[in-house]
Amino acid sequence: MTAPKETFLADYQVPAYLIESVDLRFALAAAQTRVVSKMQIQGNPAGSGGDLALDGEHIELVSVKLDGRVLAGNEYQRSDTGLLITHVPERFTLEIETLIQPDKNTALEGLYHSGSLLCTQCEAQGFRRITYYPDRPDVMAVFTVTLEADKTLFPILLANGNLMVRGEASDGKHWAKWHDPHPKPSYLFALVAGDLHCQQDSFTTQNGREVALEIYVDHENSHKCDHALRSLKQAMTWDEETYRREYDLDVFMIVAVNDFNMGAMENKGLNIFNASCVLASPETATDDDYYTIQSIVGHEYFHNWSGNRVTCRDWFQLSLKEGFTVLRDQQFSADMNSEVVQRIGDVNQLRIMQFAEDAGPMAHPVRPASFIEISNFYTVTIYEKGAEVVGMLKTLVGNAGFRKGTDLYFDRHDGQAVTTDDFVAAIEAANDVDLTQFKRWYSQAGTPVVTVKGDYDATRERYTLTLSQSCPATPDQTEKAPFHIPVTVGLLDKSGQVMPLQLEGEVAEEPTDSRTLELRDAAAEFTFINVSSEPVPSLLQGFSAPVKLVAQQDNDTLAFLMAHDSDNFNRWDAGQTLSINILLGLVADYQQQRALAVPELLLTQIAAVFVLAESDPALVSRMLILPSENYLAAQQKVADVDGIHAARTHLRKTIAQRFKAEFEALYQSLNTQKKYDFNADDMAQRDLKNVCLAYLMATGDPMQTQRCLKQMKQANNMTDRMAGLRLIADQAGPERETALRSFYEQWQHDRQVVDKWLTVQAQSNLPDTLIRIKGLLKHPAVSMTNPNNVRALIGQFCRNNPVNFHAKDGSGYAFLAEQICQLDDLNPQVAARQMGALGAWRQYDAERQALMKQALQTIADKKSLSKDVYEIVTKYLADK
Ligand code: BES
Ligand code: ZN
Repeated sequence: MTAPKETFLADYQVPAYLIESVDLRFALAAAQTRVVSKMQIQGNPAGSGGDLALDGEHIELVSVKLDGRVLAGNEYQRSDTGLLITHVPERFTLEIETLIQPDKNTALEGLYHSGSLLCTQCEAQGFRRITYYPDRPDVMAVFTVTLEADKTLFPILLANGNLMVRGEASDGKHWAKWHDPHPKPSYLFALVAGDLHCQQDSFTTQNGREVALEIYVDHENSHKCDHALRSLKQAMTWDEETYRREYDLDVFMIVAVNDFNMGAMENKGLNIFNASCVLASPETATDDDYYTIQSIVGHEYFHNWSGNRVTCRDWFQLSLKEGFTVLRDQQFSADMNSEVVQRIGDVNQLRIMQFAEDAGPMAHPVRPASFIEISNFYTVTIYEKGAEVVGMLKTLVGNAGFRKGTDLYFDRHDGQAVTTDDFVAAIEAANDVDLTQFKRWYSQAGTPVVTVKGDYDATRERYTLTLSQSCPATPDQTEKAPFHIPVTVGLLDKSGQVMPLQLEGEVAEEPTDSRTLELRDAAAEFTFINVSSEPVPSLLQGFSAPVKLVAQQDNDTLAFLMAHDSDNFNRWDAGQTLSINILLGLVADYQQQRALAVPELLLTQIAAVFVLAESDPALVSRMLILPSENYLAAQQKVADVDGIHAARTHLRKTIAQRFKAEFEALYQSLNTQKKYDFNADDMAQRDLKNVCLAYLMATGDPMQTQRCLKQMKQANNMTDRMAGLRLIADQAGPERETALRSFYEQWQHDRQVVDKWLTVQAQSNLPDTLIRIKGLLKHPAVSMTNPNNVRALIGQFCRNNPVNFHAKDGSGYAFLAEQICQLDDLNPQVAARQMGALGAWRQYDAERQALMKQALQTIADKKSLSKDVYEIVTKYLADK
């Protein structure tokens, strides 16, 4: 096989031709769809002219007409990837007719069939599977779309923009014509045809524009739209209030589809969502589902400005829209719910997923320099680290300065396709600051390490923090220049009170409780004056930069911060660091076959956490949850999967037994039979109640199994029911089998619930898990062409079940290799996303390394590998 071509940022060239407008006509049918595209084309004054190159894949060409004349076969060249039309004039119309087969499209890119629905997914490069077109985001055109289809099979016909006219046609067909006045890149194109329920509402914008809101779902789900609709209205209001962004079409539509590669997609005026990210009812959706739906609805809506009105020049700029929009959805979720819970969740995800990516063979900068397959770069680095980078800009210029910067960015670039440099330039211009050095966050990969030393001078009442930074080498980047790092700090006195901060050499500054220090050099000193007693520093408050902090704080100091830090995020973080220290000590005990002894210090601190249960239940449950096995593994030189599992299980059991009475009491007090409502307070109470239940189960007391079963039976919502089932599924015995069987019987009609049922089994720590999964793959409810099923079974097993996935005999690895080979022929994007579990192979012991490499080799040896899987497997195997 010839190696697929790599694309480089450095090779970017402006498009040679621009498309003013495109008129698309679809004769829709599942087996074959006819597409006629009529484009008004002109040479780009800034471009180089020459032949017209159009992208196109997996499509059948019927005819090409230039200014009305059918082109002969020698007037263009066709290849597997596109069409080259030679000798074109300066301005012309081009009409291309093509045929596509939605039924055969299991990759779910372009136009495809999902259930009885026809729908599209074009980002990043799916439009080229629909018609020949310059499929790149810097070509923006005004789209008019006419859809024609059978009226009984497809009574609903949707496309971007506003509906112009609709009508009846012959042979039981009908049609609809849509027009989107906003020029857009092809990746934002969408259409949907099907028989769907429409939930309607409306929204009046701050300037009095009336917008119709419509959510389209399968008829059986008509009762599950309320939460998404409410979230949409919250998002629209929030974006007006927070960023002064108003919606710009007469209608905003969301369509739920069952087969979808991602979570959701921001197509202009017509968002398409994975059904799991829209549908919710208390009986079928958990608090986590409600939370995710609110944030994804927000995220896709926010793209209307950060992505659609202002879009990306090329795909290397992906974080321009994704990083910024993730920051926006994080702010939105924080404002709608709890700020500290949101921050803890975001930081956890960043540390567990992104730090691992940044330390592995796929490490890449927020603005990558090259790719083989762009779909592989929708990563936690582009998204989560990208959001952190924008968040640091906000920290550096302050909230008001950031808003001035984003206002300028939207004003300057409305209707344009731009770069991350343009974004930073707008922040600079609005605030009169120089962010040249800061931009290294976009070009250098790797997680910087910030080391902190504190020194107190009692006689001069000065406290000096010495900060230094370094960044490990990543593939293609050995040397790193220093980053511009905002480090927010506070100082606490011995009684836990915050101390006012004043930096040396600063005049007339009001002392503040916390300060953001800007580390720009390899090392720097910051001296606080008038520090009356030796302080304990609270470092990197709110996680002000995506770095690893090395602060050499001993366990007593961590315990102190856990109890007193004025920054709630840091309180949680100190507890996590303390738990990690203790857990790693237990792993060492396990390795040396010593008895595992839990230090009293941690137990004393946990006792203090309970005191907060009434005032801040959300923080308490976060603080009671121990660091994940995956994150612990990443802290070790050689990850000891079994040792970590044993240590964590032991610590959980110790805490459970020590505080059994507290967990009992708390559980009782929180176990109300209140009607389900999604709000931060109720959610926090359910969360804490279920954390208590998990600890009660960890005591090993058989009575607790009965309590789980009882909770499942009596629950009026899926959050409580799933919490029970998850615990039961981790415990061998007849209760488990009965619970799983009856749960399925009760919920088999509901895809989202069935996926949860699969997930629970895939995550079970019991030793028969892999056998069970293999059986479930043959279950009538499971299909390898449905990405949600694949993620629930294979994804959850490989990513969130370390003891079983990393079984010593290599059975987990062999299983994954086999599944990826099968999936790759069906859906390369989904196949490539499952590769992640093998990325950290260098982190394991020699035997596991060999087995993991063997699995990778099996994949690499497969005939006709997709570009998607090829790129990842090659990079993993090249890891030295
Ligand atoms: N634009 C993406 C969806 C997308 C990504 C489509 C890659 C095709 C290829 C969308 O805005 C997005 O980012 N969705 C996320 C969810 C979001 C809340 C972070 C997703 O689908 O996971
Ligand atoms: Zn997005």
